[in-house]
Formats: sequence, C-alpha cells, structure tokens
Amino acid sequence: TMVPAHTACALLSLAPLLVLGVPPIWTQPEQVHLSYPGVPGSMLVTWTTFNKTESMVEYGLLGSRLFDMSTKGDVALFVDSGVEKRKMFIHRVTLTGLKPAATYVYHCGSDVGWSDMFSFTALNDSSSFSPRFAFYGDLGNENPQSLARLQKETQLGMYDVILHIGELPDNARIGDVFMTQIQSIAAYVELNFLSAIFGCTESLWYSWNLGSAHIISLSTEVYFYLEFGLELLFNQYEWLKKDLEEANKPENRAVRPWIITMGHRPMYCSDDDQDDCTKFHSYVRLGRNDTKPPAPGLEDLFYRCGVDLELWAHEHTYERLWPVYGDKVCNGSKDQPYVNPKAPVHIITGSAGCREKTDRFNPNPKEWSAFRSTDYGYTRMQLVNATHLYLEQVSDDQYGKVIDSIWVVKERHGFSAWS
Ligand SMILES: *[C@@H]1O[C@H](CO)[C@@H](O)[C@H](O)[C@H]1NC(C)=O
Ligand SMILES: *[C@@H]1O[C@H](CO)[C@@H](O)[C@H](O)[C@H]1NC(C)=O
Ligand SMILES: *[C@@H]1O[C@H](CO)[C@@H](O)[C@H](O)[C@H]1NC(C)=O
Ligand SMILES: *[C@@H]1O[C@H](CO)[C@@H](O)[C@H](O)[C@H]1NC(C)=O
Ligand SMILES: *[C@@H]1O[C@H](CO)[C@@H](O)[C@H](O)[C@H]1NC(C)=O
Repeated sequence: TMVPAHTACALLSLAPLLVLGVPPIWTQPEQVHLSYPGVPGSMLVTWTTFNKTESMVEYGLLGSRLFDMSTKGDVALFVDSGVEKRKMFIHRVTLTGLKPAATYVYHCGSDVGWSDMFSFTALNDSSSFSPRFAFYGDLGNENPQSLARLQKETQLGMYDVILHIGELPDNARIGDVFMTQIQSIAAYVELNFLSAIFGCTESLWYSWNLGSAHIISLSTEVYFYLEFGLELLFNQYEWLKKDLEEANKPENRAVRPWIITMGHRPMYCSDDDQDDCTKFHSYVRLGRNDTKPPAPGLEDLFYRCGVDLELWAHEHTYERLWPVYGDKVCNGSKDQPYVNPKAPVHIITGSAGCREKTDRFNPNPKEWSAFRSTDYGYTRMQLVNATHLYLEQVSDDQYGKVIDSIWVVKERHGFSAWS
C-alpha cells in the first residue's frame, strides 16, 4: 500500500516532526525525478504532492551559495486510473540556461514543504562527448533486485544517463510506490520514464541527441492496445519516418552517426512464453494485417533508415542477437559479427527484477540468438566515439559480474553501411 512508502520517504526528511506525531505531510514533495527535455542546457524536475501547492525549484552551482537561483513551473491534477481514483498533483519545473557539464545542487517544493537536497550534472552538449548509460527494463516494485547496485553506482557518478525501457505500471499506485523507490536514482541523473503517470500521448514517442547519438524512444504498446485508437499507431509511424529522415540528412548524420531506438516489446526473442517476439509474425516487427488499413511494422523502416542499435525489454531476461534482418543473421563477418554489421543489433534487457521473476528460454533458439541469461541485471553502454560503441551486461545474481560484452564498430552508418 501507499502508506509505508510515504512514511519511509517522510522519515528521511522529516524525522523530528514524526517524533512529535504529526500526520502525513500532504504538501511534502515525493517521487522527485529528473528528465532531459532534449534542449541543451535544460533539465525538467518532476514531483508529486497530495495537496495543491506551488511548484518551485531552488538551485545553485555546487560549491557556490546554495539556492541562489529559483524557477517556477506548473502543477496539474492527476487522478489515477486504478479503482481508488486517488488524486495527486504533478509538478513540473524546467530549468534552462544550465552550464554544460556543471554540477548543481537543488531542492524542489514550495514554502509549505521542500524535498531533500539532490544534485545533478548538466549534460555536456558536445557531439564528441562520450556519455555513459545504464539501461534497465521491467524493474518491478515488488522485487527490484538490481536497484541497490544501480543506486550505488549512480551515486558514485558512473552514469550520465539512466534509461528505463518502460513498462507501464498497472495503475498509478503501483507507479508511485515504484517511483518513490527509484527516487534515489532518478533524482541524481536524468531518467526518461515512460509512465502512465506522465502518459500524455505526445510523450509516448520522442527523440533527443546526446554525444554522437540520436536516440529515439517509441511505444510498442500502440501495436497491442488498439482500443486507445489505431491512429496512435499510424501517428507514431509517420513521426518515426519523419524523425529518421531528418536524422539521416547528411549534415545531421555526420554529427550524430549513431541512431539508437528504445522500445518496450522486442521484435525478436527466444523466450518460451507466447509473447509477440517469439512469433515469426511479430506485430512489432512485421505489423498487423487485421486492422483497416493494415498497420506497418518497424523492422523495415529501421533497416531502411540505418538504425544501428535497437534496445528492448519486456521479456524478463537478457538476450543479445547477432545482427539480424528479416529473421536472418547479417554478421559483419563470421569472426567479427559486430564490426561493420550488415543489419541492426538488437539487445533485450528486461531482467532488472520483477514480480513475475525471470522468464525461461526456448531450448532451441533460432540462429540469431547470440547470448542469453536469466540472471537479474542491467546493461551498461558507452558511446565512445563515432565508430565505437561498447555494451556490457551486469549480473546482480553474480554480485555485479559482467557476464557479456561487445564492441559495435562501424566505419559507416546509414542504409549504405549494410551492403
Ligand atoms: C489536503 O488534501 C486533503 C486530502 O485531499 C484534504 O482533506 C485537506 O483539506 C487538504 N489540505 C489543504 C490545506 O488543502
Ligand atoms: C564536453 O566533452 C568534450 C569531449 O569529451 C570535452 O572536450 C569538453 O571539455 C567537455 N565540456 C565540458 C564543459 O566539460
Ligand atoms: C496476416 O498476419 C498473420 C499473422 O499475424 C499471418 O499469419 C498471415 O499470413 C497474414 N496474412 C496475410 C494475407 O498476409
Ligand atoms: C555470426 O557470427 C557468430 C560469431 O562469430 C557465429 O558463431 C555465427 O555462426 C555467425 N552466423 C552466421 C549466420 O554467419
Ligand atoms: C574511437 O574509440 C576507439 C576505442 O577506444 C579507438 O580505438 C579509436 O581510435 C577511436 N577513434 C577515434 C577517431 O578517436
């Protein structure tokens, strides 16, 4: 239930008041998290309260006077979709004009309740910056096994960006217990969080640039929840096409040669459940012909637009694929499959810890399956430069051991790199 999470959060920041037996503070910020709006020098701070309050962030450069700057934002009422129809207020404040690579200390709230103090480092906006990422999918709130390790590594400054390859919470209550738990990660680095809580359709798909990459986050749910409107599926497809065309303009691809996509449900996987990715006719991969008009899948579009890397989750396992297109392996060469690969590289990283425990694998995977693990864990990535990208998988079951790693090396990017 909500109470323990609320109490735990209040205990950290308001211990003296609790000793005096004051009831829950309805104006106290919770679920503080950061996300990057995609504009260099900006950062979005989001939090919730149970009562309507002002939305303010007070901040300053680390080492200078505390809170010497402040910015106001807006507040929106959110009524959760669960049976309880609980109300809460979502606060959003966008900080702008931040110095690239500078560290800021901040708190958020209003004069009737402030959060703890947190810090973040503004992203370096140079295209030669080599950002370090952590990716995870399906970090459930009942069994967030990898969380402690990721929290500590985040506090140690190991990552510039944490990307959650989101699973929509069942309702906002699960979402907000979960958000309280991840506050310790999300309040330090920006987290992009595709969540029902912030699920306005415009943010179901978006793209942004960092270092030498153009990163696209998309919704695969539009292929399954047709009751929300088939137009969502087509709008996303048209948006993806436009966004990829823009990213492929020679002047853009020269600066940001890597194109990376992130979506929840994979096109391929070799788990033994009956999920979409286990089927040859995956909806995400090939589209649907039971809709009017038929809905296009994503594999051809991504292939034609020279997408380099596709990150997925949903399956509660880790799986790395050889470069693949059309269900066929397209290695760079037999000995060096990821050096100038002839098709996109797919990674499925859905095993951070989830109430369903991890899934099982099909004992006879297809030939595109390169490495599989059911250990809990998450993925690290460093975008080293225009030609080199490094990925590794951390096993939490094996106390942080790196159980898989690859270098993807590309001297050329784009459709012409496949031939
Ligand atoms: C805060 O919200 C609670 C629950 O909705 C309500 O009962 C209370 O009157 C509110 N307090 C203030 C000061 O608005
Ligand atoms: C951003 O990264 C580039 C490339 O690593 C580096 O040369 C530059 O100094 C960094 N900018 C700042 C403000 O640290
Ligand atoms: C329609 O899609 C299904 C799988 O979703 C596939 O089995 C079938 O062959 C397709 N039919 C046509 C005419 O493409
Ligand atoms: C792809 O490369 C891997 C690693 O060298 C190799 O084991 C596999 O057989 C290759 N697949 C094909 C179809 O060439
Ligand atoms: C890119 O990074 C790789 C791996 O660190 C390195 O070997 C290569 O020389 C770098 N390329 C350039 C142009 O700096």
